Amino acid sequence: MKKKWWQEAVVYEIYCKSFCDSNGDGIGDLQGVISKLPMLKELGVNCIWFTPIYTSPQVDNGYDVADYRNIDPAYGTIEDFKKLLDLAHGMGIRVIMDMVLNHSSDEHPWFRESRKSKDNPYRNYYIWQPPKEDGSEPNNWGSYFREGNGSAWEYDELTGEYYFHQYAIKMPDLNWEYEPLRREIYDMLHWWIDLGVDGFRLDVFTRFKKPAGFPDTKKAPNPQLDRNGFVVDTSMCTNIDGIHEIVQELYREVFGPRDCMTVGEGAEVTYQNALDYVCASRKELDMVYHFELASRARYSISAEFFRNVQKNWAGVMAHNAWPVQFMSNHDTARQVSCYGCDSEEYRKISAKLLAALIHTTPGTPFIYQGEEIGMVNVKYDSIEDYNCCYTKGDYHSMVALGASPKEALDALAPRSRDNARTPYQWDDSENAGFTTGKPWLKVNPKYAKINLAEDRDSKDSIFAFYQKLTRMRREDPAIIDGDLQFLLEDHEDLIVYLRRCARQTLLVVANLSGKTVPFPVPEALKENLWERRLTNREDTQSSLDTGRDLLPWELEIYELAR
Ligand code: GLC
Ligand code: CA
Repeated sequence: MKKKWWQEAVVYEIYCKSFCDSNGDGIGDLQGVISKLPMLKELGVNCIWFTPIYTSPQVDNGYDVADYRNIDPAYGTIEDFKKLLDLAHGMGIRVIMDMVLNHSSDEHPWFRESRKSKDNPYRNYYIWQPPKEDGSEPNNWGSYFREGNGSAWEYDELTGEYYFHQYAIKMPDLNWEYEPLRREIYDMLHWWIDLGVDGFRLDVFTRFKKPAGFPDTKKAPNPQLDRNGFVVDTSMCTNIDGIHEIVQELYREVFGPRDCMTVGEGAEVTYQNALDYVCASRKELDMVYHFELASRARYSISAEFFRNVQKNWAGVMAHNAWPVQFMSNHDTARQVSCYGCDSEEYRKISAKLLAALIHTTPGTPFIYQGEEIGMVNVKYDSIEDYNCCYTKGDYHSMVALGASPKEALDALAPRSRDNARTPYQWDDSENAGFTTGKPWLKVNPKYAKINLAEDRDSKDSIFAFYQKLTRMRREDPAIIDGDLQFLLEDHEDLIVYLRRCARQTLLVVANLSGKTVPFPVPEALKENLWERRLTNREDTQSSLDTGRDLLPWELEIYELAR
């Protein structure tokens, strides 16, 4: 069947603030991205996902939007954006926007109006509730960012009511029950499509719907993190009854008629409920970006875990749905530090192995900036150097409970979102070539050794390996059309799978461990002739021919010879 463009795409996620600064103010910007479009083209990506670049007070680095129809002045102007869009399109690169529609900034004009009086026309754009009789918060829900007293409700003196915020205090939730608000959102989405964007990533869309009456959660507080009896319970507002009606209306009003690509951020979406959103006949979304393989909470991935996730999603795919593949993004730690090995010896090798797994399993791969040069986690000495709201909120909760600053930092650093947000490491000049000024977030001190210039000059370049993978996606039919069959299904360390379509059979062999592991080559494979197409260790011979052990983090891709 003819594929849609986004099924054949390689998506590259740009965190603009940290990508490339063109004017020395320490903040990445659109002109910076424009200057790097040729590099993205060389890498072989054909779709950019911009995390939010709209006007924003930057409480959550742009996920707090103050004007949905404008570009933040720190990033440039709408004219810069149009230029970028034209240039990208001219190079065959599509652009999708991150739409943050669960909440806005409290500096959005809608909210400024909303808080003015109970009968303001914008009052119902947001979620307001009176205090309980004793003046306290309407219920016991905690906010994800655990600021203030920990509650997801903030009291507003002017009207004597509380407004609801699942995230930061300065990020009030929008009220999707209110039709005029929905209309404004649809108009705004059409406006971006008219401007030429190719689709949307929908931020935390599974949380648009809130339960009637806002009942207390019965969940017990997490003594480490929850404060003052306010409990973070994702189940209260995630994937609850009524969410599908909202997404279906979005489809009817915008996505369907405009045929734009949509990928929803699938907080709490699993292979079991995914089809409710992405089965084509439901008319909701094209793809859901789920966290079953990689997430902020996952410290490692075993071969068995990898197989299970992929098998489950192959099952979803059988019902006319299309998976996504990724191992890191702007909300996670660096994939090579978590799931590979970031030591000098194995960093490049394991970065390539992870890349190959993502690019050779079924679905659309999403690359996060820096992954293609093997950027690694950072550890700052002081909480002052951190920016991420989760890290800061959790740090203060832990210290309030008696943890020492060092204990709290040691515990939180490996998972901080800032690991992914340090400036892109272009070369070994000051500030990694990211800026001539003072970077908004400290550059990872490892930049002297880990940077794009070094990588591209080296014999074992990760970037060059990604180029081979993106080329395979364009040229090898089994990458997109092939089915998925695992071999050695009980193996503790090895991941072995076939991708087969009418025209081609590929075989992927990966040692997902830091040990040398004997490779019991399955008999069925020995009957055929296999040509080795790709390896992350140029110094080895085909393991299928020789039956030799697989080295730590070794990866090979074979093609069945005809
Ligand atoms: C999503 C974004 C994250 C943001 C949150 C609130 O999870 O990816 O960066 O903080 O939504 O908008
Ligand atoms: Ca700048």
